[in-house]
Amino acid sequence: MTDEACIHVSRDDGICTITFDRVAKKNALNMAMYAELNTALDEAVSDDKVRVILVRGAGGDFTSGNDLEDFARFDPAGTEESVVRFLYRLADLNKPLVAAVEGVAVGIGTTLLLHCDLVYAADNAMFQLPFVKLGLCPEAASSLLLPLLAGYQRAAELLLLGEPFSAQKAREIGLVNGVFAAGDVFNEAFGQARKLTALSPAAISASKGLLQRSRRSLVTETITAELAVFRQRLASPETSAALSDFFQRTLKKKQG
Ligand code: COA
Repeated sequence: MTDEACIHVSRDDGICTITFDRVAKKNALNMAMYAELNTALDEAVSDDKVRVILVRGAGGDFTSGNDLEDFARFDPAGTEESVVRFLYRLADLNKPLVAAVEGVAVGIGTTLLLHCDLVYAADNAMFQLPFVKLGLCPEAASSLLLPLLAGYQRAAELLLLGEPFSAQKAREIGLVNGVFAAGDVFNEAFGQARKLTALSPAAISASKGLLQRSRRSLVTETITAELAVFRQRLASPETSAALSDFFQRTLKKKQG
């Protein structure tokens, strides 16, 4: 089953918390989840009572990234509209986006953090950008935003080699604001979000707009350019082989 939606939304004191909750698959994001995420983000943006959006994962992990079964089912003639809409939505949010990251944060689980204003990670967090290992290429404007954040060589190492990296490394490259014990990170992130809710929403929105002014149109252009290459790569023999390899490995693990 990959079409169930597993996004939970709760609202508390001006903070809209969005939880990826598909624990059996390490919160891998399937099409239905992207559609629900878009709805959750649209509603949070249009509700004046919501001042801050906070994202987290259930069961001790953030997300293992895009559902690989959805990648395997990719139809070049079909549409993956909800994923695409999610990418552009992330890039034009006018309210602060805060993340609390525990456990795995793979693929979009790492690249979506480049669109957050504040990111807090648990000391057990494991980040990874395995696009090239999967025969794919960067997405969510990470080919622009990661070099801007970390410097070209550090970004190239993470995006080309695609090896996992720790919360400490994520902190060193500026991807996360703070590292806490697993179990504490959500409360820490929530506390920071609460501080934002006490400030003027108009001043925050104007300031966020200014912080992102110089990169905004480049981000959108980069998402579009990456998507064109990503779609070609999804249909490549290297991607088919990498996906088969993953499914075989998980099957073998299951069979003991
Ligand atoms: N899509 C679909 N299913 C996924 C998944 C994904 N992205 N990530 C994990 N799963 C599933 C596994 O198939 C397994 O399912 P099963 O129990 O039904 O066989 C379950 O989640 C647990 O995963 P497992 O690999 O056993 O956990 P782990 O702790 O050993 O490893 C990861 C966790 C995230 C490192 C590993 O699952 C992984 O590398 N996943 C792929 C990540 C990825 O490439 N994402 C796309 C990036 S573009």
